[in-house]
Amino acid sequence: MNARQVPEFPQWPQYDDAERDGLIRALEQGQWWRMGGDEVNSFELEFAEHHGAEHALAVTNGTHALELALQCMGVGPGTEVIVPAFTFISSSQAAQRLGAVAVPVDVHPDTYCIDAAEVAAAVTTRTRVIMPVHMAGLMADMDELAKLSADTGVPLLQDAAHAHGARWQGKRVGELGSVAAFSFQNGKLMTAGEGGAVLFPDTEMYETAFLRHSCGRPRDDRRYHHQIAGSNLRLNEFSASVLRAQLRRLDDQIALRDERWTLLSRLLGAIDGVVPQGDDVRADRNSHYMAMFRIPGIAEQARNALVDRLIEAGLPAFAAFRAIYRTDAFWEFGAPEGTPDAIAERCPNAEAISQDGIWLHHRTLLAGEREMHLTAEIIADAVAAV
Ligand SMILES: Cc1ncc(COP(=O)(O)O)c(C=O)c1O
Repeated sequence: MNARQVPEFPQWPQYDDAERDGLIRALEQGQWWRMGGDEVNSFELEFAEHHGAEHALAVTNGTHALELALQCMGVGPGTEVIVPAFTFISSSQAAQRLGAVAVPVDVHPDTYCIDAAEVAAAVTTRTRVIMPVHMAGLMADMDELAKLSADTGVPLLQDAAHAHGARWQGKRVGELGSVAAFSFQNGKLMTAGEGGAVLFPDTEMYETAFLRHSCGRPRDDRRYHHQIAGSNLRLNEFSASVLRAQLRRLDDQIALRDERWTLLSRLLGAIDGVVPQGDDVRADRNSHYMAMFRIPGIAEQARNALVDRLIEAGLPAFAAFRAIYRTDAFWEFGAPEGTPDAIAERCPNAEAISQDGIWLHHRTLLAGEREMHLTAEIIADAVAAV
């Protein structure tokens, strides 16, 4: 019997002399925080410009980016934030940390993004923000959501932790008229190990966010005049210098991942029992943060065993996020009335995807065509053996 060839995937994170030079530049500035150096300021300008936004504010991580954005949008005790039931827990935790109730809403079974019709049904007089997540880099239905936002007066906050460089009908994240939050955690499409950013279409909110992210203190304050409540969410100069280098690589990497996903999703779609994440032609630039697929109907334990087999065969494979209402953390504070089972009844798609979904790290999609074929063969064999 022929031994199967082992696929070779590039490492992540990636770096070269651009990151090295950036780190030395930050080091030798002699000022390692944003209030004294140039790296964070420069990164913010470059990131805002790249995404077509008026303003960018760099922060410590993506969770803090969401918290800060929500706080600036008036989220606090007595308010509700609508979030997808299928997402990484930070989307709901950010709202809950501010004392608000996080209201999970079902996602689309094909795109895994929040279902706009379900959002419409969940809006109440207490809803302060609707938070779509661009799952795996595929934009949520920003047309329907923008219409709903206009009809209800409830603003959108895009959780764009997966969507650096993504577009909707040619528009970049910062051109869609809403606030957007990003993560630069180690696995993200651009990274400094940790980090985050918020894009603001509106100068007043950006100025408030700047104060809040720096203990309520104006840029030039020397007398400890803390004007509003806040915290220290400032990004440091080293991280920003690395992110400036990472941003320059982003577009080429998106183009390569897109080419590879076109092939891999076709191969996956041809395997009995495998359904790759769907597409939406209006989401015309998918940044491909995860290569996701479902094995509809598989039991959760069998899916977990399948992921273990894929890892053994050399794939960077992971089980899909657990539906947020199926975690203990979700119920500690800021949960709506009800039980996990009652929410599951309203969110059958989130429930199913969290049990039958699998994702591959985006470095898979930075490999060669040969690796796409090997990846599909490994998956086909593993699924046939379930
Ligand atoms: C959808 C989503 N939102 C928010 C975050 C939080 O970002 P961070 O890890 O930088 O806090 C993540 C992932 O890490 C995420 O996947």
